[in-house]
Amino acid sequence: MKTILGIIGSPRKLGNCEIAVKAVSRYIRQPHELKILRISDFDIRPCRGCYTCLFKEGRCVIQDDLPDIWEALFEADALIVAAPTYFLGPNATLKHLLDRGLSLLPHIETLWGKPAVGIGIAGIPGKEGYTLLGIQNFLRFLLTHIKGCEILYGALPGEIFFNKDNETVLSNLASSLFGSALASKSPTCPVCGGDTFRFMGDGRIRCMLCSNPGTFRKEGPVFFDICPGSHEMFLSKESAVKHSEWLKGMKARFLEQKNQLKKITIDYLKDGTWIKPSTREDTGNAEKP
Ligand SMILES: Cc1cc2nc3c(=O)[nH]c(=O)nc-3n(C[C@H](O)[C@H](O)[C@H](O)COP(=O)(O)O)c2cc1C
Repeated sequence: MKTILGIIGSPRKLGNCEIAVKAVSRYIRQPHELKILRISDFDIRPCRGCYTCLFKEGRCVIQDDLPDIWEALFEADALIVAAPTYFLGPNATLKHLLDRGLSLLPHIETLWGKPAVGIGIAGIPGKEGYTLLGIQNFLRFLLTHIKGCEILYGALPGEIFFNKDNETVLSNLASSLFGSALASKSPTCPVCGGDTFRFMGDGRIRCMLCSNPGTFRKEGPVFFDICPGSHEMFLSKESAVKHSEWLKGMKARFLEQKNQLKKITIDYLKDGTWIKPSTREDTGNAEKP
């Protein structure tokens, strides 16, 4: 039996993200077990940028709940990820977790190509900003195969199902998970399938998902001409391995240039006055003896 991992970006219990993930699971015809995690239930600290995990089979030096999430990810056959829109983008939980993603690079073989679908929830129609891009970014760096990514609107918990069309959207996502990927409704990057672009003038563009540059023409339908670059991160298993090796090479580069780098950084050591967290006052919530 397949194991499907639902990753919930929203801290709100039984909110739209949670019920959307559970609804997709209900529509999936294949027998499966749905395992669900809410990212905010876990103590996940920020990445320290030490790169140690690259050399220790993915073991991060930070002692927190990250291994529980990665274990669930490794064991899953497929993923359903949902995040709410906060301030025109996906809420921070996905990015916060993904920032620890260097520790996934030693596990490319285990992770590569797991089918995944993404759901963004926004409270105001049209005000999802870059939510879908953020979810796609999360899924691509988890090295999944994105089968579909959709936005649904609903502000109050459960409100997404006031609109019956959303049941069809979720049912289509469910069919795509172990079937054919859903066709994009908008023009896409020919390299990665992303549908968000930065327009840089003179017909030049950059895909915001794979970050490759190119040009676009609009003679009838919009046409994007984009080629993969020499340093890709997730477009193929080989490129993910190459990126991982490149990162590991950073250690040798650092050791070679350590003294030169130190001369640059030390000069800035004493500038500015640091603001640090103040010692927290007793809030009066603690139990009195
Ligand atoms: C801090 C915060 C910021 C929000 N910002 C947006 C926004 O920019 N655009 C939008 O459409 N909805 C916004 N919303 C509404 C949520 O996306 C919406 O309520 C959604 O249903 C939440 O999903 P949940 O029920 O899974 O938590 C915001 C909600 C919160 C709490």
